[in-house]
Order: sequence, then C-alpha cells, then structure tokens
Amino acid sequence: MARALDLNAVRSEFPILGREVNGKPLVYLDNAASAQTPDAVLDSMSNQAQTAYANVHRGLHTLANETTEAYEGARGKIRQFLNAESDENIIFTKGGTEAMNLVANGIVDMIEPGDEIVLSVMEHHSNIVPWHFLRERHGAVLKWVPVLDDGSLDMEALQAAVGPKTKLVSLTHMSNVLGTKVDAKRATEIAHAVDAYILIDGCQSGVHLDIDVQDIGCDFYVLTGHKIYGPTGIGALYGRVAALEALRPYQGGGEMIEIVEQDRVTYNVPPHKFEAGTPPILQAIGFGAAIDWLSAFDMDAVRAHETKLLEKATAELSAVNGIRLHGTATGKGPVISFSVEGVHPHDIAQLLDRYGVAIRAGHHCAQPLMTHLGVSATARASFALYNTEEEVDVFIEALNKARGMLL
Ligand code: ALA
Repeated sequence: MARALDLNAVRSEFPILGREVNGKPLVYLDNAASAQTPDAVLDSMSNQAQTAYANVHRGLHTLANETTEAYEGARGKIRQFLNAESDENIIFTKGGTEAMNLVANGIVDMIEPGDEIVLSVMEHHSNIVPWHFLRERHGAVLKWVPVLDDGSLDMEALQAAVGPKTKLVSLTHMSNVLGTKVDAKRATEIAHAVDAYILIDGCQSGVHLDIDVQDIGCDFYVLTGHKIYGPTGIGALYGRVAALEALRPYQGGGEMIEIVEQDRVTYNVPPHKFEAGTPPILQAIGFGAAIDWLSAFDMDAVRAHETKLLEKATAELSAVNGIRLHGTATGKGPVISFSVEGVHPHDIAQLLDRYGVAIRAGHHCAQPLMTHLGVSATARASFALYNTEEEVDVFIEALNKARGMLL
C-alpha cells in the first residue's frame, strides 16, 4: 500500500528542516536548486560503506560482489523509475550536466558545419553550453524556440525550427525558472519526423512528473539525483539502444573498454562504455534509495499537495503590490519566479534569509531566458513534498516585510 503524505512524519525524516536560520525556523524553498535528503537515503549510503564496500565490477571477492550488486541494483531502480526498456539503457553520470556533455561529445563525429541543434530559450546553461561547444568547434548552428507570454513552449515555432538540417532537438521537460512543462511526446514526434535525435532534460521534472521514456519515445532523457531527494554527484542518462550504440564514448579509462593494446582499443557495451573509471558508487546507491523512498508515497497525494502550495503561493504573491510573476502556464510545476518592482532579487533573497526563508535569486543558469523576459535576474521559490502551507504564509509575510524595508 502506498505511504500516506503525513507531513509531520515526513519532516521528521529530514532533521535539517528542524534547524533555525538567523534565529527563525528554517523555511526551505530552494528545492529546485537542491532538495534536502531524508535519513533513509543517508542511511543507505552509510550502511553500504560500513558493511559491504569495495570497488565495483573489478574484484572476485565477496565485498566487491556485494557492492556491485547494490550498484547495479540502483541502476535497476532508475530503469524502473523511467520505465526504460532495460538496465543497459541507464548510464550513471555525476549529474545532469555530465549527461548533457556526454551526449554532446558522443555525437561530435556526426556533426557537419551547418547542422542544426534546436533548443528553447528556457534551457538551463547545462543544456546550452555543451551545444555551444559544437557550434564553436564544429560549425553547428543553434536554433532557438521562444516561449509564449505565459511561459509555455511555442510548439508552432518548434515545428517551424525543425527541418532537414536538424541533428538534435534538446529541450527541458520542466523549466527551472518558469515551472513550465513541455509536451515531450509531441516534441519527440516533431524531432523524429526529420530523423533528428531528441534529448529531454528531466532535471526538474524527475521529481514532479511521472516519467515513461518509452511512451515519450525520446532518444535521451536526463536525471539528476540531488533534486529527487538523493545525493549530489550522481545523475543518470537514459538512452535508447540505437542512440547509445551510435555515440562515441565520452571519457576513456577503466571499465569502459573491451581490449586495450599498444595500437588499438575496443570498447565495452553500453552502459559500461560510458562509465569510465570508478563511478560514484555510494551516491548511485543513495540515488536508488531516494527513488525507493519517493516511490513509496501515494504520488497523487504528493502532486496534489505540491500543486496546492503552488496555487496558494501564486494567489498570495499576486496580491503583493508591484509583483510580476514569470511563468503562469497551466499545469506548471511548483516553481514560482517573480520580480518586485524597484527591488533587486538579490536584496529580496538576502532579506528573506533574515526571516529564515531560503529562496534563490539570480539568473538561475538561464541567461537566454532572462534576456527573453527582459530582466537580469529573478527571485524564485520552489516547493518540495515536505513544505507546508504555514511555510507559504511565513514566506509571504517575510516578503511583505522585506518589501517594506526596501521601498
Ligand atoms: N539548476 C539548479 C537551479 O535551478 C541549480 O537552481
């Protein structure tokens, strides 16, 4: 039976949520940057380190075998979470950024000058800069799809941007600034109609959407562990078999090879072909534990709770004088970016911190989006399943006080 969302019980599993900041109870609303980590995840890593730790895939002794089993078990959990075809489709990376760089390096031999890569203006820099490398070094052309006034992706412009020269379409599944969800299945149909690859960046959506990569049909899907209640230093790249086989390996080293001779090297099969060197073993196991922890909940209740927090915060923020909300698309994720007329977002974040409220301010690693919105930075509050309606009240009250001080 699914676990009910009892907020007191859930919060007790995150000791950090009980601390004070500047003499006030912490109100942690920076979950889109990193969620906090529950005891179950921390325990999974320390138990592994204390009872069954060695390097993976290399030894023939008991500890090596037990660690390998746990590491490969975590891969299986990610596979299930994404509904991927098999464990071979899941590559562990050190995060979303490495996954995107892995694909950009992997397709380099396929890029001719003039080949096009289609992105949206709301991408995170990790889904922009690797493609800029292909522009700078190999003559690829970046084509940009705008967002509409409510922050939703302009699907007609996406359709128009994709053409015979498109090699890859790379889009977020959920904007880290606007909370906008993208119709990844429709985008995949558009990309595949011209035989282009499509990568979906699920760094934000992983924790907020039910993901089925086979239903989406995409070639690549990216996750990062620390936004799904897991540790930092671990992420995953899903790739369709044919897409992974076509990629050249990213980094060279142990485990990713089949034969190494003085004048020749052949490579292991995916996923090992893309996991050079000793991987982040404990982090992968922690990522698997985070998936188990999250998946145990009644996910409808989790989604409903996060939506309630988003709607309450949106309604109360809208009532604050001089507020501009960025991103109001229907069905968006629990992320609110806003500007306060006449006040720099950094000042808002610093003053809110005095009241114990943690939000992010800045360009959110999304400078093309800031340009599109005509701002240099925004303030952003983002919610997780452990946040409460009382915390929304504290946030709004603190914002009103901060505004009073700054204006
Ligand atoms: N990508 C993370 C954020 O949006 C760091 O805050």
